[in-house]
Amino acid sequence: MGKIRVALAGVGNCASAFVQGVTKSKDGHHLEGLSFPTLGGYAPSDIEFVAAFDVNADKVGKDLGEAIFQPPNNTLRIIGEQKFGVEVKYAPVNDGLGKYLSQMIRTPDAQPVDVAKELRDSGAEVLVNYVPVGSERAARFYAEQALSAHVAMVNAMPTFIASDQAWEEKFRRAHLPIVGDDVMSQLGATVLHKSLAKLMVERGVKILQTYQLNVGGDTDFANMLEESRLTTKRISKTSAVQSLIPYSVPTRIGPSDYVEFLENRKYAYIMLEGKYFGGAPIRIELKLEVWDAFNSAGVMVDAVRAAKIGLDKGVSGAVTSASAWTMKHPPIQMPYEEAKEAIIEFAEGKRER
Ligand SMILES: NC(=O)c1ccc[n+]([C@@H]2O[C@H](COP(=O)([O-])OP(=O)(O)OC[C@H]3O[C@@H](n4cnc5c(N)ncnc54)[C@H](O)[C@@H]3O)[C@@H](O)[C@H]2O)c1
Repeated sequence: MGKIRVALAGVGNCASAFVQGVTKSKDGHHLEGLSFPTLGGYAPSDIEFVAAFDVNADKVGKDLGEAIFQPPNNTLRIIGEQKFGVEVKYAPVNDGLGKYLSQMIRTPDAQPVDVAKELRDSGAEVLVNYVPVGSERAARFYAEQALSAHVAMVNAMPTFIASDQAWEEKFRRAHLPIVGDDVMSQLGATVLHKSLAKLMVERGVKILQTYQLNVGGDTDFANMLEESRLTTKRISKTSAVQSLIPYSVPTRIGPSDYVEFLENRKYAYIMLEGKYFGGAPIRIELKLEVWDAFNSAGVMVDAVRAAKIGLDKGVSGAVTSASAWTMKHPPIQMPYEEAKEAIIEFAEGKRER
């Protein structure tokens, strides 16, 4: 099979984990914890990084292999610093830096580049959007640039593009695939919460109320202290769980605090309360600890391969199977077993999208 030429919008912790994991796989290392060693004939090592954009003066102008380790990035390091021959370019900031990030990040004293031109010149096939939560204008800007450069898109953050009818239509009309929105971690709070809710429903327990409180110490969590940037994030995380409960339940789900010393570790506290036979009470409480960026990076390997398979097959618009498998807010929600079957059928050519 061929290669998959990927561009990155936002060189933060998630980009770092994705780049590091893919790079490690090229040295012949087995990538632990990947659902599909190959998907539609593509291995993780087929992914190549050809362009990258950021707005942080400490990352712009540097090689991607150096930029992924620049503070405030603070995820795990699993490879040494190396050169990819890809310079991180300064893109328009738009609303990328909110109240908290604008205090932590200095922008370059330069003119931003023409992103669509850079995409075209780099030969990128798939653009991954990793900009901060609440960057509604920045996310849509990247969608426009992908459309203009005729590049497929994977939208890792919760601005609704693949799951927004009007935006999905733009990709459909441009004959480009899109996978989105808001990447779901491999074994994160969302899939765990969904599984527990589904288990309770299937075992006849009536769920009465539930919450999922999340804390972390990276810029993603610092940015999410700004409640006004969280509207779509809360919808995305909440709808993923509610889709498994066939009645309405008081629910509170979302990022809850920034604890700097946790770095890129995320702690999720999940509680589900209900009643079963005879009205007897039941309560499940659990705490999950993960390295947040690495938790989504393996899923991103699937999402990017699905976008490329979409290009190969001439898919126009949202890849519904892959979006349901890899994203919290896809155009069509599916229980994860069904989503896994759907993406396999799509990759093997038995399903259109
Ligand atoms: N498991 C996960 O970590 C996970 C899961 C789901 C969604 N996400 C989402 O993925 C996105 C990336 O997460 P992260 O942990 O890498 O965040 P991060 O804060 O580490 O990285 C964001 C990067 O975007 C850059 N940026 C800001 N505005 C920009 C613009 N206009 N153009 C280009 N770059 C810009 C920042 O300088 C920073 O380098 C976030 O929206 C996050 O919520 C992450």
